[in-house]
Amino acid sequence: MKDKTLNKPSSSTGLSRVDGRLKVTGGAKYAAEFNVKGLTYGVLVCSSIAKGSIRSIDSKQAQNAPGVLAVISHLNCPKIPGYPAEPAKAPIKIFYDNKVLYNGHPVALVIADTFERAQYAASLVNVDYNQEKHITSLKDNLNSAVAPHDDAEYKRGDSNAWASAPVKVEQEYILPSEVHNPMELHAIVARWDAEDKITVWDKTQGVKDTQSNIARIFGIPVENVQVNSKFVGGAFGSALQVWQHEVAAIIGAKVVKRPVKLMLTRKDMFTSVGYRPLTWQKIGIGATTDGKLVGINHYAVGQTSTYEDFAESPADVSRQLYACPNAYTNNKILSLDVGSPIWMRGPGYATGTFALESAMDELSYQLNIDPLELRLKNYAETDPETGKPYSGKSLRDAYKMGAENIGWHNRSSKPGSVMRDDLQVGYGVSTGMFQADREPATVKAVMNADGTLLLQSAVSDIGPGTATAMVAIAAETMGIPTEKIRFDMGDSALPNAPQQGGSTIVSSVGSAVLLACNALKKKFQQLIGNGGADKPDYAQVLKRHNLQQLEVSIDSKAGAEVDKYAMYSWSVHFVVVLVNPLTGVVKLDKITCVADSGRIISPKTARSQIIGGAIMGIGMALTEETVFDHRYGKVVNASFADYHVPVNADIPQIEALFVNKPDYNINPLGAKGMGEIALIGMAAAVANAVYNATGKRVRELPITPDKLVDWSEIS
Ligand code: MOS
Repeated sequence: MKDKTLNKPSSSTGLSRVDGRLKVTGGAKYAAEFNVKGLTYGVLVCSSIAKGSIRSIDSKQAQNAPGVLAVISHLNCPKIPGYPAEPAKAPIKIFYDNKVLYNGHPVALVIADTFERAQYAASLVNVDYNQEKHITSLKDNLNSAVAPHDDAEYKRGDSNAWASAPVKVEQEYILPSEVHNPMELHAIVARWDAEDKITVWDKTQGVKDTQSNIARIFGIPVENVQVNSKFVGGAFGSALQVWQHEVAAIIGAKVVKRPVKLMLTRKDMFTSVGYRPLTWQKIGIGATTDGKLVGINHYAVGQTSTYEDFAESPADVSRQLYACPNAYTNNKILSLDVGSPIWMRGPGYATGTFALESAMDELSYQLNIDPLELRLKNYAETDPETGKPYSGKSLRDAYKMGAENIGWHNRSSKPGSVMRDDLQVGYGVSTGMFQADREPATVKAVMNADGTLLLQSAVSDIGPGTATAMVAIAAETMGIPTEKIRFDMGDSALPNAPQQGGSTIVSSVGSAVLLACNALKKKFQQLIGNGGADKPDYAQVLKRHNLQQLEVSIDSKAGAEVDKYAMYSWSVHFVVVLVNPLTGVVKLDKITCVADSGRIISPKTARSQIIGGAIMGIGMALTEETVFDHRYGKVVNASFADYHVPVNADIPQIEALFVNKPDYNINPLGAKGMGEIALIGMAAAVANAVYNATGKRVRELPITPDKLVDWSEIS
């Protein structure tokens, strides 16, 4: 069916997901569903201590169990050529030595002819440890934090200016560790096709990166690694690197000389594929009595592992978001005996913005200025960090649209003063920002004799609807119906594309699609000669010239504009909460999110992005928290029964609005990313609304009922 709105991407409707039918009918196959010939099944045995070494592994019983093909550990693992030498910091080198680096560290892999047999045999492996004293608590060890790299510290003007300002706030904020919990568990099917040739079906955000990483680790040519990842059931940063379970499966397939499938359990997801790091932050912020910012100090300490230096930069937002003459930011990390963290939707910014936008809210009450007005008073017209003009910024419009939609004028400036039935009503607002990047991308476009268009690029789609956006761009540019266009992706043999991360794909690959389509049209023009139609009947032209097809391949990347402009996407989140004063339960009543992310290419999937981000923000604000038992250095809530993600009953009416002003300084499409800004700021908006409702400021997420009930009234 031809979608009439396609040529009007600014409308509120738009093309439906081109792969939607496949996804809801089970036609879309995910990594763990490739049951290739001769498949075997791997199950990991993971450490039960947080630090120490393996004294012995008794695998005799497991080896003798029915169907077992191998038990692999550091005792018998073949040499892996690409493991970096000591003492380089690197992702876990699985089965490399007897060291245990965190609770849940994989120490053995059992492979059997069925999954159940592998699982049973894994339960028979007995590991004996030399236990050492571990450290897993960030809060108790803040003083041991270190700088992750040379430019972790930033200063402009007087770093203590905030402290001598007439009105000021100084507070600490804590964001607990949040775990990646996409619907699809991480999984890989690994097969050796020859001595030096590997094929994998893998959950990954970047088939090209996974290809080169596997090639490096196993010391084989890049072109000898084939990575397939046509569909990904959600990923928010966890599939941006090759993890130990992927390496384990490839090792296993080599050992048993058969393909191996390895799918993590939900419990493994809490320890083995990264997480948003637990981060402690301290902000000092000062203003004049009429609400002009004088100075901001922002200090952050995030947890990391002992074997890698993964670092976010949560404090950076405080030198970027508002016009403020004096700013000091400092990002530190603290090594603990835990698994490595990784990027997670809006990395750094989501964490830092919770602190900054909470502190701004606190400041607004001290100043007795409306929090929205305070933000407008300190609106940055140019980039405060570099002084450069923005490539495009319509954040002011976003504030206005959101305020109108949520009914901001209904907000009471007196906390705890409005009731609806027996519930306290509160309004909150927060801003979000994220860099708008454009990565190199190549797209091949082929017009076939039958008038169908094939587009190819090696990008993965982690869920936002990449193919849909690409088809929409091509349909509009070429002037052909969407059903005549196919976008091929998720295959490392296709032309180069970046990882799907950092909200860059529409900007990067989308621009390449646009340029490829324009180049293809030009080729047709050359065939037709002078005066030909801009969008001719392509099939007819090919027929007339006796051609089977016409194709182009376009490499595209950012240019000089990156030096000229500061480039960001922006968001504004408005929320209304209802708080039960007796139980402390917070219920979202309404959410309005406004994205200022350039031109909207695919309105329907863009809306879904915003709604998804808002829901993740509800989880961050109200429920999600990884709980450690520091006695054992162990995550104790590694299940959906104990780690709570929002469900339908937690979700209110969510309005997703778009400023939809093209930013042609960034790319020829005028579009920039929105996946991350959908989340960034959401948690602060909720926390600010909870304060407005109750007068209680919660600075350590999540805002669980115990933090809001008045215990003195109960006991
Ligand atoms: Mo996202 S953290 O860029 O996958």
